[in-house]
Amino acid sequence: MEYAALNNGVKMPMEGFGVFQVPDGNVTEQAVVDAIDAGYRLIDTAAAYKNEESVGRAIARKMANGTVRREDLFITTKLWIQDAGYEAAKAAFEVSRQKLGLDYIDLYLIHQPFGDYYGAWRAMEELYKAGKIRAIGVSNFYPHVLADLCLHANVIPAVNQVELHPFFQQEDALKVMNEFGVIPEAWGPFAEGKHGIFKHPVLCDIAEKYHKTAAQVILRWNVQRGVVVIPKSVHKSRMVENINIWDFVLSEEDMQVIAKLDIGHSEIVNHFDPEFVKMICGWKIHE
Ligand SMILES: NC(=O)c1ccc[n+]([C@@H]2O[C@H](COP(=O)([O-])OP(=O)(O)OC[C@H]3O[C@@H](n4cnc5c(N)ncnc54)[C@H](OP(=O)(O)O)[C@@H]3O)[C@@H](O)[C@H]2O)c1
Repeated sequence: MEYAALNNGVKMPMEGFGVFQVPDGNVTEQAVVDAIDAGYRLIDTAAAYKNEESVGRAIARKMANGTVRREDLFITTKLWIQDAGYEAAKAAFEVSRQKLGLDYIDLYLIHQPFGDYYGAWRAMEELYKAGKIRAIGVSNFYPHVLADLCLHANVIPAVNQVELHPFFQQEDALKVMNEFGVIPEAWGPFAEGKHGIFKHPVLCDIAEKYHKTAAQVILRWNVQRGVVVIPKSVHKSRMVENINIWDFVLSEEDMQVIAKLDIGHSEIVNHFDPEFVKMICGWKIHE
């Protein structure tokens, strides 16, 4: 495993395990136990995934049986739009922290750039300074929004988690993150399976050369660009496959071949479409 150095000196694993769309209860609990056993130390959840308690139970189990210590883990959760704003963000953080059963959170992200996220950021800056969060960051902050926040915040975001995979590479966004010292983290590193990504001929051809799978090539390509990856799987064999990317290096030529797969836009979400904005801003995760 390699680590990214965040802008406050905190070390973040370059690969983690995501639990979006993993059903709450035993499925999430078992998936996180399996992921920790497979070697993942970064776990990525969110209030909106509604599985923080199950993630917390898995962490407690693995700490109780001595597999990991708290300081070995890097736990991320996210603030949902409904809880944007100074007071609401403080309360929502406390709910997430308690559901996860942790004294502190390693990385707390604003999930979406909607609602009063400036108020939320002020709350997060205070929680960070109080030692409740080791690093604060954002998610889905397109370059102009990220630049605005970086120019006006007291604490520069440590991480921006955005969609990044071979079909949506966002090189321009990476340049802006780099300029402000924000570490990029890829959500949907497999494009959530779109484009037949696991059987894509270009990726499979490259994979064959390295005796690897297309999935491993996809993740390796992103980490070689300096991007943290958080693949999701509920299958233990795939968790093991996906973390087995630290014993090979893609050539510059192969990196360039993958660069050509970019289609330049998302096929999963559209943050610039008012209908999408209305839809996610209307999505409530609690009363
Ligand atoms: N911040 C945001 O707005 C946001 C949005 C989306 C996601 N995320 C985060 O990013 C994480 C990853 O993204 P994602 O879950 O959307 O999608 P993803 O990781 O791109 O793709 C997950 C899909 O790939 C399959 N898969 C995984 N490894 C495989 C392998 N080696 N071979 C074949 N199939 C494989 C999984 O199936 P099985 O599970 O059946 O194995 C699942 O259907 C999330 O879990 C979440 O933590 C954040």
